[in-house]
Amino acid sequence: TGVRMGVASPSKVSLMELFVEPSKLAAAKTEAESLPKVALSEIDLQWVHVLSEGWAAPLKGFMREDEYVQSLHFNCIRGENGELVNQSVPIVLAVDEAKKAEIESSGNACALVDPSGSTIAILRNCEFYTHYKEERVARTFGLTDKRHPYAEKIYEAGNVLLGGDLEVFERIRYNDGLDEYRLTPKELMAEYEKRGADAVFFFQLRNPVHNGHALLMQDTRRQLLERGFKNPLLVVHQIGGAVKGDDVPLKERIMQNKAVMEEGILDPESTILGIFPSPMLYAGPTEVQWHAKARMNAGCQFYIVGRDPAGMKHPEHGEDMYDPWHGKKALTYAPGLEKLEILPFRVAAYDKSVGKMAFFDPSRAGDFLFISGSKMRAYARDGEMPPAGFMGEKAWKILVDYYASL
Ligand code: ADX
Repeated sequence: TGVRMGVASPSKVSLMELFVEPSKLAAAKTEAESLPKVALSEIDLQWVHVLSEGWAAPLKGFMREDEYVQSLHFNCIRGENGELVNQSVPIVLAVDEAKKAEIESSGNACALVDPSGSTIAILRNCEFYTHYKEERVARTFGLTDKRHPYAEKIYEAGNVLLGGDLEVFERIRYNDGLDEYRLTPKELMAEYEKRGADAVFFFQLRNPVHNGHALLMQDTRRQLLERGFKNPLLVVHQIGGAVKGDDVPLKERIMQNKAVMEEGILDPESTILGIFPSPMLYAGPTEVQWHAKARMNAGCQFYIVGRDPAGMKHPEHGEDMYDPWHGKKALTYAPGLEKLEILPFRVAAYDKSVGKMAFFDPSRAGDFLFISGSKMRAYARDGEMPPAGFMGEKAWKILVDYYASL
């Protein structure tokens, strides 16, 4: 594209974690007992998780006002040396006026309590600013509709935003049988080294893998081999945080993705299945920059993007909220992502003439069948088979069983 500056090697990424040093842990926990407590929502906890492992580096905690203003208006923040760092979505913590007063009157530090009641972190040097919710929603999502799944959470949250330096006691765990897939950037880097990867490419998703998704990943591998890489490694990276109600739950998505690997549609030798702890925002071209930036912090060099990343249907009229091609265009030119190479893809659809998922060819549009997420769910719900070649059989069975269990 001419704007890319070349790709960093995975080992060049500087890791930044926000965990308390083990030798200081006991003292920090004792101190936390005496601090005002802020109760975290499920999504707040997911952001603590994201921040703690360095996905949002160089952020050192929930955004301060300066960072928030830059993120909201430029989709970027200035790093320590004035460089532009992409940060397209605000990572903020909302509280109410009473909590603000309590923290201000007791030394400007607070303890963060997860939804199960455990104190998991301290936030220091706290700073407060007004939560202009409608502005945040409008700038992040391009609408103000309260039925948008993430906007809904913002409108429900407190009127004050609380920034500060985060010190997290221990690694965030969910004990849901999936923690082994929640690899930190540090662990991922170790895995690249262990497997001797000479190129690392990521596929972000929030859906089961159908053969159209697989085509994008297989084609990327082919391109990288063609360019002379000997051992490209793919990270299939499922969104692990909150998703909207009709998306397939994380557990079923991971089981389905495992089945896809067992069936050999994705080669287990050159594929890592991982979970990205962020919640899903459904902010389209704005969010896709966050998805790419966070992976860059985990040593990603090549990032796949296709049709309508992080998009959804408008809650009012049911049409696409975003132009389905703006995600990949925005990503290609996004400031602060120059070290990442974007691999943009055309839309994949079911080609009836060969009985396979293939890249759409507009010159013979009639041969193609578009199977949207909602159509796929409808097939599975009704126990109807999708056309052969749409998805691996074992992988499909997992979805059918899930919908039958509802
Ligand atoms: S997302 O919200 O995580 O972006 P999804 O899981 O549907 O949603 O998509 C994962 C990735 O695959 C995104 O880069 C998206 O653009 C791409 N993608 C999904 N479906 C298709 C398709 N039929 N053709 C091309 N790209 C697709």
